[in-house]
Amino acid sequence: MRHVVCPGSFDPCTNGHIDIFQRAAATFDKVTVLVSFNSKKAGLFTAAERVALIEESTSHITNLIVDTWDGLLVDYTTKHGIDTLVKGLRSGIDYEYELPMAQINRRLTGVDTFFLLTDPKYGYISSSLCKEVARHGGDVSSLLPPPVIRALEAKFADLTS
Ligand code: PNS
Repeated sequence: MRHVVCPGSFDPCTNGHIDIFQRAAATFDKVTVLVSFNSKKAGLFTAAERVALIEESTSHITNLIVDTWDGLLVDYTTKHGIDTLVKGLRSGIDYEYELPMAQINRRLTGVDTFFLLTDPKYGYISSSLCKEVARHGGDVSSLLPPPVIRALEAKFADLTS
């Protein structure tokens, strides 16, 4: 059985992430979406909130589970006997960002990273851009899953009250 991990900060997940999860789930037997942490990125949502939003947004994908890990990604994959990561690539900027991560992960334990090219219709979507638009009341309805839109509305209402 081919079990892969889709790692990321997912703060929050976007329609672009969901598309990658769906395509990974159609290609591999089992997908774990792993909410992990990038020490350079400050978060808006807690780990538990991010997990819940991905679970709600992917309930139609039967061979997908969601987990969280606050440590080295390769320690998670080793612990669970997983040898493949799957990530999306939107552009050359993503490639430059992803290349050293994929290479260090492979150097550390041999885990390989498969890249799926982002569907062009999601090519400009990022979590940070969506948060920025939503924070100022812009329309993110075509960019984010409905549970995420509701959560952002609640989060920004809390922050401004
Ligand atoms: O959403 P991102 O920025 O693509 O996610 C990056 C993430 C969280 C997958 C990456 O920073 C990560 O793997 N963090 C866990 C710590 C780790 O293993 N770091 C070394 C390899 S990058």
